[in-house]
Amino acid sequence: MIHLRNVHKSYTVKDKVIPALNGIDLSIVRGEIFGVIGHSGAGKSTLIRLINLLERPTEGDITVDGEAILHYDTLALRNFRRNIGMIFQHFNLLSSKTVAENVSFPIRIAGERDTARIDARVDQMLELVGLARHKHKYPKQLSGGEKQRVGIARALANQPKILLCDEATSALDPQTTRSILQLLREINEKLGLTIVLITHEMDVIRTICDRVAVIDGGKIVESGPVTQVFLHPAHPTTRNFVLEAENASEDDGLGALGQDSSALVRRLTFMGDAMAQPVFTQAARECGVDFLILNGRFGTIKATPCGQLTVSVRGDKGKALAALRQLSDAGVVVEENF
Ligand SMILES: Nc1ncnc2c1ncn2[C@@H]1O[C@H](COP(=O)(O)OP(=O)(O)O)[C@@H](O)[C@H]1O
Ligand SMILES: [Mg+2]
Repeated sequence: MIHLRNVHKSYTVKDKVIPALNGIDLSIVRGEIFGVIGHSGAGKSTLIRLINLLERPTEGDITVDGEAILHYDTLALRNFRRNIGMIFQHFNLLSSKTVAENVSFPIRIAGERDTARIDARVDQMLELVGLARHKHKYPKQLSGGEKQRVGIARALANQPKILLCDEATSALDPQTTRSILQLLREINEKLGLTIVLITHEMDVIRTICDRVAVIDGGKIVESGPVTQVFLHPAHPTTRNFVLEAENASEDDGLGALGQDSSALVRRLTFMGDAMAQPVFTQAARECGVDFLILNGRFGTIKATPCGQLTVSVRGDKGKALAALRQLSDAGVVVEENF
């Protein structure tokens, strides 16, 4: 639905050229939740602002819904932007207006004059985000999470097809973050909305995204399904994000490796059936080997339960290889180099 082809963007400030994006290729599918993760200054905000043309690329092509949006005239651009909602880290609400007025604002801007229709739409949006009873309050009377809910209601007021989220949960505590992410997921499922979000937190990606791109220095260094990127990170930047999310470090538990240089050390990744069956102990019992667990992590990625163990297989080499083959046949991903 959204395609960026060889997109470059640099800012010019007082004759100095500041590069922000260097050749971005990206495709986002209709109805998915797509995440972009990167450190501060990596180019995330620039990237997301290109999608609704708040910024224009210096080079490259962008198509949305099959249309080359860079060629739009003023009127086409205005109509196009109505199809894209956006929420922000600091909510960007109008402090002198009530919750209802904040939400009705974009509806009026879009040209709707019928008060009954506007009211109905506002009520529907506030219902969706669970804020109906706060309708007449002002932003300063709300918590951070409630303010972001108003932001979401406002962003969806004109029934957009795409929602852009720029660090939407970065100003919120962990529990509120979870509730906002849960709401975004519900909206994605209920309305079929395509969501593009940027964040510096891998936990946000793991909780709601289907696919992710990792951006570093204005370039995408890795991308793919979140399960793939999370369980098999290839780029050092990605590995660091994953380790950070798990409060781990690269050599956690692996100190035991040196104890037996003849042992087979493998990383086992479990997903789907391999998670639902006791394949690990079965292989140990049936092949007559022991597994020493060096490192492990289990959890869910979006709705997918999965796990990963680094093990040293103890016992006769032939039996050890047979056990690993049995695991592999049962759907466990067995890696020697990781
Ligand atoms: N309006 C701007 N004018 C000049 N430089 C900018 C502007 N916006 C961003 N930049 C620069 O572009 C780079 C990428 O910034 P940004 O897209 O905001 O990254 P992120 O959102 O990942 O922190 C940084 O070097 C930043 O200083
Ligand atoms: Mg930013």
